Amino acid sequence: MKSRALAFLLGCAAFCLGSGTAPEQSLREAVRGSGLLIGTAVRPAQLSEAAYAATLAREFNMVEPEDALKWEVVHPEPLRFDFSQGDQIVDFATRHGMKVRGHTLVWHRQNPKWLMEGKYTSGELAGILEKHIKTVVGHYRGRIFAWDVVNEAFDELHPGELRSTIWRDQPGIGLAANGTSYIERCFRWAHEADPQALLFYNEAEAETMNAKSDAIYAMVRDFRERGVPIDGVGFQMHISQTQLSQTQMANLHADVASLSANIKRFTALGVQVHITEMDVALPVDAEGNARPEDLELQADIYRQIASACLSHSGCTAIQTWGFTDKYSWIGSHSKQTQGAALLFDRNYRAKPAYDALRKALELGRPVAGR
Ligand code: XIL
Repeated sequence: MKSRALAFLLGCAAFCLGSGTAPEQSLREAVRGSGLLIGTAVRPAQLSEAAYAATLAREFNMVEPEDALKWEVVHPEPLRFDFSQGDQIVDFATRHGMKVRGHTLVWHRQNPKWLMEGKYTSGELAGILEKHIKTVVGHYRGRIFAWDVVNEAFDELHPGELRSTIWRDQPGIGLAANGTSYIERCFRWAHEADPQALLFYNEAEAETMNAKSDAIYAMVRDFRERGVPIDGVGFQMHISQTQLSQTQMANLHADVASLSANIKRFTALGVQVHITEMDVALPVDAEGNARPEDLELQADIYRQIASACLSHSGCTAIQTWGFTDKYSWIGSHSKQTQGAALLFDRNYRAKPAYDALRKALELGRPVAGR
């Protein structure tokens, strides 16, 4: 209490005696009124960097391990689990009053060789998957409040169809029924391991109304009707503009309307929507710098997406995929042609995107959406 009063007085000193403008809030302070979760993906190796840790703790009330809970890290050998990286993140979150989203139990990428090349029978594979899900979810029972149970199961090349993966293709695990039966089993196993955890299906390029989001919608509706334990859908929201222009901004307005309609139809099924991996990749020069006008357009994208989420009471979290341009996956992913995708620059200075997002969060939910 004492330290809170002191913090208030210090904040007020700037306001009351200084410039006359209100003390600036962090993002996590800005969402207090709306109850929204504001999160970011994190890498455990960076937690020992003072500026990284301070910015993270100040700005966000939720974290998600960027890679630390993927199979190749957490389950490196058939009979060995390694929770050391995940535990570091969960401990950090506990110390700073943040929630933790878990990512991800089933995906076609970042899997260990022993799994991909193991030539297991269907029965063995089902057993391995059940053990993995129950061990990982069980380890974090009560500490990870929401899980991306299955990630990116639908195939962008064949709209509406499930991607070919070891999980889908093995007769007995996948292809029975309408193909989503392996996904259903994963949700049921996760629910058994932690009945309190919120269970999400997470996907790329399904943010707006399109063939992929139609297929996910049909799956989620089916799951809800049959009592399969699914609580939410994650829209990744990796946005990439090689050349931002006014025309593209005009298109963005249409996209935001479509995003909003998509959030509306999913939340009407009784599931929550989380925006799970937002970044807005910009073209960058050899030094990694974006053009000032692109940074302004980027800010507007963050603002519009946040407002779209806030306008639906069932959209309960906005999360960015990292927070400093110093450590963003976009650089290596785009062979260094894109970058500057996040809210803070490489020196932890807030960018226009940060200010725009904070203002949208401060506005909160529109009255009808509360
Ligand atoms: C990315 C990480 O950011 C990188 O560090 C890693 O090398 C590759 O994966 N969709 C997802 C995330 O669901 O798990 C991916 O994360 C980005 C795309």
